[in-house]
Amino acid sequence: MLFRLLVGAGLFAFAGPAAAQARYDKASRIFRLDGGDVTYAFKVNASGILQSVYWGKRLPDSAPLAAPELSGLSGFDVATNVVPQEFAGQGGGLYAEPALKVTYPDGNRDLVLYYRDHQIDGDEIRVTLSDLDRPIFVTLTYRIDRDTGVVARSAVIENRSTGDVRLDQVAAAGLTLPVAYDYRLHYSTGRWAAEWTLQERPLRTGATVLESRRGSTGSENNPWFQITRANTTEESGPAWIGALGWSGSWRMSFDQDVTGRVRIVGGFNPFDFAYRLRPGAKLETPMFYVGFSDQGRGGASRLFHRFERERILPRRGGDAPALRKVLYNSWEATEFKVNEAEQLALATRAASLGVERFVMDDGWFGARDSDHAGLGDWTVNPRKFPNGLTPLIDRVKALGMDFGLWVEPEMVNPDSDLFRAHPDWAMQYKGRPRTEGRNQLVLNLARTDVRDHVLKVLDDLLTQNDIAFLKWDYNRNWSEPGWPDADVADQQTIYVAYVRNLYYILDELRRRHPAIEIESCSGGGGRVDLGIMARTDEMWPSDNTDPFDRLQIQDGYTQAYAPGTMMAWVTDSPNWVNQRQTTLPFRFLSAMQGGLGIGTNLNRWGDADMATARYYVASYKRIRETVQHGSLYRLNRENPADARWTNLYVAQDRARAALFTLVGSTHKLDVMPTIQLLGLDPDAVYRIEAMDSTPLPATIPAQATGAYWMNHGVDVTLRGDFVGVGMILTRVR
Ligand code: DGJ
Repeated sequence: MLFRLLVGAGLFAFAGPAAAQARYDKASRIFRLDGGDVTYAFKVNASGILQSVYWGKRLPDSAPLAAPELSGLSGFDVATNVVPQEFAGQGGGLYAEPALKVTYPDGNRDLVLYYRDHQIDGDEIRVTLSDLDRPIFVTLTYRIDRDTGVVARSAVIENRSTGDVRLDQVAAAGLTLPVAYDYRLHYSTGRWAAEWTLQERPLRTGATVLESRRGSTGSENNPWFQITRANTTEESGPAWIGALGWSGSWRMSFDQDVTGRVRIVGGFNPFDFAYRLRPGAKLETPMFYVGFSDQGRGGASRLFHRFERERILPRRGGDAPALRKVLYNSWEATEFKVNEAEQLALATRAASLGVERFVMDDGWFGARDSDHAGLGDWTVNPRKFPNGLTPLIDRVKALGMDFGLWVEPEMVNPDSDLFRAHPDWAMQYKGRPRTEGRNQLVLNLARTDVRDHVLKVLDDLLTQNDIAFLKWDYNRNWSEPGWPDADVADQQTIYVAYVRNLYYILDELRRRHPAIEIESCSGGGGRVDLGIMARTDEMWPSDNTDPFDRLQIQDGYTQAYAPGTMMAWVTDSPNWVNQRQTTLPFRFLSAMQGGLGIGTNLNRWGDADMATARYYVASYKRIRETVQHGSLYRLNRENPADARWTNLYVAQDRARAALFTLVGSTHKLDVMPTIQLLGLDPDAVYRIEAMDSTPLPATIPAQATGAYWMNHGVDVTLRGDFVGVGMILTRVR
């Protein structure tokens, strides 16, 4: 008989208080984490390997966890491959994706990790593994969030030997889903001005790899995923979700193994990776955050939105992250042609609309008249601002707004004083040409002197000026990522050291200037991830500000990231991206579904436009908490081909909801599907009104119960191209 089939199955039940979040059962050697509506379990198997057991809907405390002892299927697939490992070392006959691959100085590359010991501390389990005989130690951390059940996993690799060890591949975690053949993987792809395109594909044997090799998060893939089953819909069925907290090169691989289990491995990208670990040294991986919902793709998104609000985003003493202010940004209006008088004129008009933050974009510093020069020279351009920034900032503040400024501190133009003084500060291979992108080079932030310089420049800027907000841009990818001054064996640690130093600068700036708010921008949405989100307050998802393209972009973004982190501007029509013409109300209804901004040349708006904008800004302020911190329901998605976007945002206390339905083009005399709302209090009575001043059709009652809005629903008739309507529901009793 060629096959030796599975042997044995351990069965056990946990006893103990339901409140406990993280437990270990000595008899079965099973670890179990419970939080929100999720249970996550793994065990030490009979061979001492850490094996996945369960990740899904929360099980009762008394539920027995089946824990099969797996052996090899045949001589071709030994146990190392068949056992779904929590953190597999490359060795012992492993063909599956490893979490860790090492090379010892003597050429040995065999790594087999066994359980050694563990600690449990509240919601956290720390398990230590080590190689069968070499002193490479791995400490895995599992922390479950008691409200959402999101598990944060990471690993620390430690070299306790007396010689150097090279790490060739290091993941944060390996995860496993049970055997099934109808899994579907959801993720996003993109490029500049076209980020966040949703993709879906079946998960089968053969790896699907999502990654960035570019040194930063990238738009080509974003480091999140969802996995669903055939019976999963927008609001029901299982959905697993995960995202990496890392702003450098990353990779996630998805594969169905020889036994039909889906394996997920995520962490540092092994592309061009090598990390010398000296004796006694440690390397900590990024966090891999993973969640589960049985309420479909919408449920999984809402779980992550909540987790980000409650556990990732910086707070300023309050219960929730600060609400995004309505901002004005000068970029599309003036590009590099900024000066005191014109910025003042824009600020005056912006303030009259109810704008709360005025942001001056690129062009204010050094010899920055185009993208050919100036990056690196962060001193105010005296021709454009003869008296520095203070007169503009003072005036902006007198107008009742706070002041924000654009910076791109990790970059340098070869045509800059900084580069002329320190050509060696840019990333490079000695004696080789450097590829420019947008006429600029990337500073090697991995160098301590560069890190300290960038920190000082920003610290000075914030100390000398009354700046409330930084738009932190990053406009190219890495190339020639050399670090000639470092020891050859350490040069590739640039992939880790750069990002750690970026985080250090952000953390240190926030420590020194606790009130500063920061937007992460990378020519649009090229650096959105949970690592940068923990250190910034908002994200710029795309330079594409066309309001219709944006609906799709925003839909992709909010699969994993909270609407309250996503900035969206009202800009000009026709839009620069595609020359599409849209009405001002349509542009507002699109942009009001995130953190609202205005990025148009306000001097071109007449009185009627200004009045319309004033109305929508006021409406937005009524719903902003609902949109930014509420629960998002994507409604009526049964026919994505008809380019209709209906989104409902329900406040956490269910006292308010904001409903948007926008259409690219209506056809014939087609009747639009009834919009049945979700998430309201069925017994409460809600008043409904349009976000603009127009009365709603007589078929919509002025007020009704939550049950009515959720079961009977709202019928809306729209005719034409790029039309939409926004409605506010307010609980009256
Ligand atoms: C790219 C950003 O995404 C834009 O919003 C703008 O800030 C430009 N850079 C400025 O150079």
